[in-house]
Amino acid sequence: MGEPPKINTSVAHPARMYDYYLGGKDNFEADRVAAEKMIEATRGGVRLGARENRAFLVRAVRALAQAGITQFLDIGTGIPTSPNTHEAAPGARVAYVDNDPIVLQHARALLVGRTTVIQADLRDPGGILDDPRTRETIDFTRPVGVLLVAVLQFVQDSEDPYGAVSRLMAATAPGSHLVVSHVTQDFDPEVAARGAGAYDRATARLVLRSHAEVTRFFQGMELLDPGVVQVSRWRPDGVVPRIPDNHPWVWGGVARRL
Ligand SMILES: C[S@@+](CC[C@H](N)C(=O)[O-])C[C@H]1O[C@@H](n2cnc3c(N)ncnc32)[C@H](O)[C@@H]1O
Repeated sequence: MGEPPKINTSVAHPARMYDYYLGGKDNFEADRVAAEKMIEATRGGVRLGARENRAFLVRAVRALAQAGITQFLDIGTGIPTSPNTHEAAPGARVAYVDNDPIVLQHARALLVGRTTVIQADLRDPGGILDDPRTRETIDFTRPVGVLLVAVLQFVQDSEDPYGAVSRLMAATAPGSHLVVSHVTQDFDPEVAARGAGAYDRATARLVLRSHAEVTRFFQGMELLDPGVVQVSRWRPDGVVPRIPDNHPWVWGGVARRL
């Protein structure tokens, strides 16, 4: 894989903070200090949010696989956590994309079956779409599942997140699907803002978006039932965990490209 990626362990990275929320071991002191601020501000709610967000990703990928989607572009994939996209949709082709070198460092664990891992940035959708490894893995003449799960929250309004989503989806075939989840301030703006402050000195700052702002990512597409809801309420399966009404603070939805 060429030169090993350069990892800066003295600055908090969102991928490693998220790993810490999920109880993973791939994090360093700076990540844990920042993550603890978020945990304290939300009285542990962020951990529930991370777990429920992950479960949403798995249910959404399974739903898409059942609908016949056999290839996925998983952008902002994060440090590998099981089950990952290729495990939720066995046999599918998956291009994992992240801009954090730490994810590449763990790439070998992911490079199984028909998967590839690419270091690229959501803020440069052309770079993702034109990467030869993307093209080798994804056939854009056939429907693809585009996953933007808990990643658009690291793209500031000034960096045109809506334009990036439109550009990506415009490159896909009709029948493709978009999966989005996103943290929100809707349930407690003050606490959410304090929690988001934990990212002020991280490699990417956290943007909170409202229900209307998250729904706008699906503009021009057909939203699948039940629409944009808290991730724990998106087609829950099995025993539904007892979750307070105002948790988790993460909106999620899936839409079909017409
Ligand atoms: C909160 S984690 C989400 C991981 C996974 N998608 C999930 O929901 O379980 C966010 C991931 O997005 C990545 N990320 C943040 N900004 C990004 C960008 N502009 N382009 C690509 N990846 C980005 C981070 O490195 C991190 O791995």
